[in-house]
Amino acid sequence: MATTPAPAQHRSAVRTLLRLWPYVRPVRARLFTAAFVAILASCMGLVIPLVLKWMVDGPVADRDPAGVWLGALYLLLLGFAEALLFGLRRWLVARPLSHVEASMRAALYRHLQRLPVSFHDRWASGQLLSRGTTDLMLLRMFLAFPLTFLLVNGVTILVGVVIMLLQDWTLGLVILGPAVPVMVTCVIFERRYAEVARRAQDQVGDLTTVVEESVLGIRIIKGFGRHRSQARAFRELSRTLRGTELRKARLLATIWGVIVTLPEVAIGAALVVGVVQVADGELSAGTLVAFLSTALALRWPVESIGFLLAMSQEAATATERYFEVMDEEAEGAATNPSPPSTRGADKGLRFDGVTFRYPDAPPGTPPLLQRIDLHIRPGESMALVGATGSGKTTLTALVPRLYEVTSGRITLDGVDITDLSREALRAKVAVAFEEPTLFSASVGDNVLMGAGDTAGTTELERALAVAQADFVHALPQGTDTQVGEQGLSLSGGQRQRLALARAVVGRPEFLVLDDPLSALDVHTEAAVEAALRQVLADTTALIVAHRPSTVLLADRVALLSGGRIAAVGTHQELLRTNAEYAHLMSGEQSREESGEQEDAR
Ligand SMILES: Nc1ncnc2c1ncn2[C@@H]1O[C@H](COP(=O)(O)OP(=O)(O)O)[C@@H](O)[C@H]1O
Ligand SMILES: [Mg+2]
Repeated sequence: MATTPAPAQHRSAVRTLLRLWPYVRPVRARLFTAAFVAILASCMGLVIPLVLKWMVDGPVADRDPAGVWLGALYLLLLGFAEALLFGLRRWLVARPLSHVEASMRAALYRHLQRLPVSFHDRWASGQLLSRGTTDLMLLRMFLAFPLTFLLVNGVTILVGVVIMLLQDWTLGLVILGPAVPVMVTCVIFERRYAEVARRAQDQVGDLTTVVEESVLGIRIIKGFGRHRSQARAFRELSRTLRGTELRKARLLATIWGVIVTLPEVAIGAALVVGVVQVADGELSAGTLVAFLSTALALRWPVESIGFLLAMSQEAATATERYFEVMDEEAEGAATNPSPPSTRGADKGLRFDGVTFRYPDAPPGTPPLLQRIDLHIRPGESMALVGATGSGKTTLTALVPRLYEVTSGRITLDGVDITDLSREALRAKVAVAFEEPTLFSASVGDNVLMGAGDTAGTTELERALAVAQADFVHALPQGTDTQVGEQGLSLSGGQRQRLALARAVVGRPEFLVLDDPLSALDVHTEAAVEAALRQVLADTTALIVAHRPSTVLLADRVALLSGGRIAAVGTHQELLRTNAEYAHLMSGEQSREESGEQEDAR
């Protein structure tokens, strides 16, 4: 399985989070309104101490009960208004933010579909899954809460401090004393937390990968009795993740301790100083009450900064992880559209000095395919034969552009495949791979994937006939039977025949088959070959083959050896003139005679 690419170099959390703007933009009006409402609500809380001051210095000092009642009414109304405004804020943001999350998830999925196969070779699927789920959830939570409240609390603290300084600036300075150490702690905390948060989120991705692999590979794990070691690997990873999460908790506890303790001490100090001042008659009791209740009102905004910062940091990490995928280059459209030249000699499928090495091959290794020249004439079928690992599958994957050639070119009827749009290319070329994949859909839908939207039952039946896949009609619901991961399991040979049907259903001009009959028993194979022969009569085909019987379907054979086309000719010619070919074919022959292959189930 692929590994996780190393995270990009550290960027400031703010700069990273700014990248979310394009997704947030559509809902900006609501988000800003909500922030404004929250600031209003929060500042309303700060008016309460001022009412208290008026009450203590006025009606209370004057022993005027009516005034006290009036003050109480004011307080009640203020409290009500504050609660209403906070409720309004929540209502304002809930719907738009789930919209942001959904659109980011959709963008990620769309992008994943467009990323080249070489990207998916490199990335572990669990990492992609966790980015599409956990990370996006963290982002939504960030937009809903820390984003607004860092702003709201910042403004509230600022307004509160100004109010306190205006009440009495000596007391104000006493309260402000811990500000500097608290800020320093926050900065240090932010940096450390960033690192741990990133590690935790990557570990979630690794854990997801293990779960996914063991679910998909459950037969192998059970078959080889590996459930213990698999469980051990899982435990190991989840223990590491738990360690990282605990480290996060410890960091959070530290900053929480500092943020809670220091202001608390300052409030205590201010209380002592204030009481002395009131006793000396330098300060009114009302002012001290107002001052202290403002300080207490600011306690929550200050204390919450710790976890707001933590959540923002996690959101920044999530953003980073999200954009690591989004920044990967998707498959482009045609590169240099040029008028197709259709000289007669260029008809058919042609490999022209094609050299290829996998993007992730270790540096220094020679290219897997070197200067391949091969011409498959229009309507011709060419078999491709070679030892295991010689690069046959790779060569076939180059035609539908699952990988890009390193140098050289591949042309279809004289047109470079890089000049064709993906749609045009994939409409011309149909493929069937060695490992046939069926999706969670009906048999019919799985096969018709290979055709345009107009194809219907007639095409389906014809394709099923060519692939000798009449077993379909014996399935519980015929072609409507659900297969794939959420449906009925089929045998390897049955899946191969459906994949073959999918390849031929759209009557493609060019057919690329990677060992399409390997899992069939000898009799089914013969039947498929007979039917396939008719299809091959009017398509240009490249067929990877192992057995002489499959090779005999083709007009000519190309032998791939040492990264080059070592020989081209008819089966008989090559058998006579090429020792390697003769050897490959004889080996296959004897294996087949021993009846090793069979169509299970
Ligand atoms: N995605 C990949 N990335 C890097 N190397 C690969 C990849 N797929 C296959 N290879 C390597 O390329 C070589 C040829 O593989 P393949 O084309 O599948 O051979 P064949 O189909 O002839 O058996 C093998 O050595 C294999 O390890
Ligand atoms: Mg292969």
